[in-house]
Amino acid sequence: MSGQNNGSNENTTPAAAARGSELASDFTVSVHYDSRMYKEDIAGSIAHARMLGRQGIIESDDTEKIVDGLTTIAAEMETGEFVWNPDLEDIHMNVESRLYELIGDAAGRLHTARSRNDQVATDTRLWTQGACARAFEAAVSLQTALVNLAEQHIDTIVPGYTHMQRGQPVVLAHHLMAYFEMFDRDATRFAQTAESADVLPLGSGAMAGVPYAIDRKWVADQLDFDDISRNSMDAVSDRDFIVEFLTASSLAMAHLSRLAEELVIWSSDEFGFIKLSDEYTSGSSIMPQKRNPDFAELIRGKTGRVYGSLMGLLITIKGLPLTYNRDLQEDKEGLFDAADTVITALEAAAGMISGMTINADRMRQAASNSFVLATDIADHLVDKGVPFREAYIAVSDLSKQCIADGIGFGELSLSDFQKASDLFDEGVMEITLDSAVAARNVPGGTAPERVRAAITEAKQMLAEAE
Ligand code: ARG
Repeated sequence: MSGQNNGSNENTTPAAAARGSELASDFTVSVHYDSRMYKEDIAGSIAHARMLGRQGIIESDDTEKIVDGLTTIAAEMETGEFVWNPDLEDIHMNVESRLYELIGDAAGRLHTARSRNDQVATDTRLWTQGACARAFEAAVSLQTALVNLAEQHIDTIVPGYTHMQRGQPVVLAHHLMAYFEMFDRDATRFAQTAESADVLPLGSGAMAGVPYAIDRKWVADQLDFDDISRNSMDAVSDRDFIVEFLTASSLAMAHLSRLAEELVIWSSDEFGFIKLSDEYTSGSSIMPQKRNPDFAELIRGKTGRVYGSLMGLLITIKGLPLTYNRDLQEDKEGLFDAADTVITALEAAAGMISGMTINADRMRQAASNSFVLATDIADHLVDKGVPFREAYIAVSDLSKQCIADGIGFGELSLSDFQKASDLFDEGVMEITLDSAVAARNVPGGTAPERVRAAITEAKQMLAEAE
């Protein structure tokens, strides 16, 4: 890499030198992504300019010019007329430069009592609050889709699995409502993250505060911030709220990925429990019979990039000395990408859940052709006074015998049962998939009665979230 640091080095061709300076500037440019925060940036500047005017720090004439200019710029950005200049590095410098073109020297007064350090922290907090609201809403839509489907399947029996082995029967609604709970925690985390972001850094200046009689509370009110930061050095270098957003997004993606995996498995020929709608599947380019669950797979696959953004930011901020360091510019791409990914994935999952067809017969069959009633049969013996461990062994032996004989519990007569234990009585012949789920009538259990109540409660929660 000789000559890289010196354009006049004899060993460097003019072309290489030109490329070097191009690289150097490209390397620092962020406008191709931070332009996404233009609404927040302009809202922040307008509030700041108005405050400067109110406090008599700048002339009110200048305030008017600045606010008008900024309003014009926002409109130009909205319509796409605005000409972004990468040579100006970031959104903030692009806005300021255009403001000069529009209103002349008054533009130079906007940056009084402000630094890009408190400005970018403010923009990013505003943007993150918006993203939290959108993610919250998307999580609630998915919860709604789950509840609506669950409501139709309070009596649909499906095997519940542990270790991916059929374990005990549950109702499908109970399985779906497990995801409702996960996305409920996710929605809560997005709401909590919005609260973490709800602190105004503006007024911290570069890092030490500013030597003007500014009114930070007034600016906070204008921008709908609940609070102002207590320490200027912390305020310009704190990115915890983004870590929190990425954490909330990562957990939401983990839940989405688990759901996606189940949809992939359930829609396979081997399971045949569901059929995903055509909208969320696509054909194979070579195998005409196939419908691939691409959306579910991509939700599962995109989880990795969201985790990557979380890890990336955690690593970026570790070891940074106070206060602002340019490293912090690396906070935004991961934030934006994670927000886009998690919100789209939540929406796609809601669409898949709403549009899929349930094959209830296949589900019941899978439960019937199995030993999922083994626990209930053991519980029957417990009911007769047998210690659970002994009952367990008797039923385990019985199921091994059935497997050897190629039959299920359903094909056993009472006397077959009684060969395993003379304490079995007619009651054992009445154990069915439906009686097994109904028996789990504890809070949080799969008894249809409980699940119905859980769904009612869930609907109330959703109505409150609206
Ligand atoms: N583009 C920068 C960022 O995103 C804005 C702040 C720049 N501040 C500075 N002192 N260079 O972090």
